[in-house]
Amino acid sequence: MSAALPPRIDSDRLWQSLMDLASIGATELGGVRRLALTDLDRQGRDCVTGWLREAGCQILVDAIGNIFAIRPGAQATEPVGVGSHIDTQPSGGKFDGNYGVLAGLEVIRALNDAEITTTRPVAVAIWTNEEGSRFTPVMMGSGVYAGAFSLEHCLARTDLNGATVADELARIGYAGTDSAPRFAAYFEPHIEQGPILEAERITIGAVEGALGQRWFDLELVGQDAHAGPTPLAMRRDALVGAARVISEVRRIAMQYPNNARGTVGQLIVSPNSRNVIPGRVQLTIDLRNARAETLADMVEDIRSAIERIAADERLEARLAEVVHFEPHHFDPHWVDRIEALAHARGQSVRRIASGAGHDAVYVGKTCPSAMIFVPCEGGISHNEIENAQPEHLAAGAQVLLDAVLEAAGTATPPA
Ligand code: HGY
Ligand code: MN
Ligand code: MN
Repeated sequence: MSAALPPRIDSDRLWQSLMDLASIGATELGGVRRLALTDLDRQGRDCVTGWLREAGCQILVDAIGNIFAIRPGAQATEPVGVGSHIDTQPSGGKFDGNYGVLAGLEVIRALNDAEITTTRPVAVAIWTNEEGSRFTPVMMGSGVYAGAFSLEHCLARTDLNGATVADELARIGYAGTDSAPRFAAYFEPHIEQGPILEAERITIGAVEGALGQRWFDLELVGQDAHAGPTPLAMRRDALVGAARVISEVRRIAMQYPNNARGTVGQLIVSPNSRNVIPGRVQLTIDLRNARAETLADMVEDIRSAIERIAADERLEARLAEVVHFEPHHFDPHWVDRIEALAHARGQSVRRIASGAGHDAVYVGKTCPSAMIFVPCEGGISHNEIENAQPEHLAAGAQVLLDAVLEAAGTATPPA
């Protein structure tokens, strides 16, 4: 058998796997709509696990539907994990999450090509419902894995039509019974989803940490009434209240430092009829910050703003917190190593913080974990036009392969 060569990422093969997976849930504008636990998610899961089986991996599925594809090592010890998610936003892109999973597949394929047996096994993870769009909480699968949420709490969560996670997992055939492996270390490649790397013409981001997040569901209840005869002074207009809350969310975020963010992304008006004063509005609030104390101040501010607005508008306000995780710092050793490995490959690299949450944040509570960012076009993500360059994606996957080899060790190194 020919002497094994050092393993190298096959850029064309990686790109092709991304395009093939993106065809499942492809949208008109070149994006992907593959919401968690839908039939399209099932198709995506079946497709990627098929590729991973063909590459010699054993497939495990746990009770929240997380998938673990394990390439055996010389020793039956804790594997080195790599991965991300393949569920997308309703108008998502080809690369968010999908890149991390398919870079993991490409690492497996490159190790096979190089006929390398690693000392530790290598596992590719596909985490359930990272996006938190159809079902909250966000990062659900990795959160259950890390003990941030109970399995029971998450299985009972419903989408806007009342379908539960448990029913949908069973329906798509991914209500697993396997126990999830613990990792020796975990690496997650991801597009930056922001503008910094592209603006500075840098290929690799060694991610030092991620913003803390606090998500709320707010329901404002007033009274349906006729848009004509009802005098303004008599109205209990839930949509006027919501409009005031929305501008408060932005005002609060703008007044705080440390990468403060405030977003209202979802608004449901009822009865949503043009000549009825809306008696009920449901809206979502997403607050983020790099410092836990500042995030707590932002939450305090929005709570008192909601109280004031509800009193002014004579509304009832029901506020429920659905996500809360503190700012996360990735493993300093592996952040250093990712920076050094990128340099060793002659890639430009800088340290960076993540505005987005990622499964690596929760997995990082169970083992040393780190992330590898690559640029995306215009810093745009959670948008159908999301795009990235093949050479950047391949460079990130090569740094991933080098980090995996360092963490897993090689039992049969190349000649
Ligand atoms: O919301 C986030 O940060 C991630 O995209 N789920
Ligand atoms: Mn993502
Ligand atoms: Mn996302």
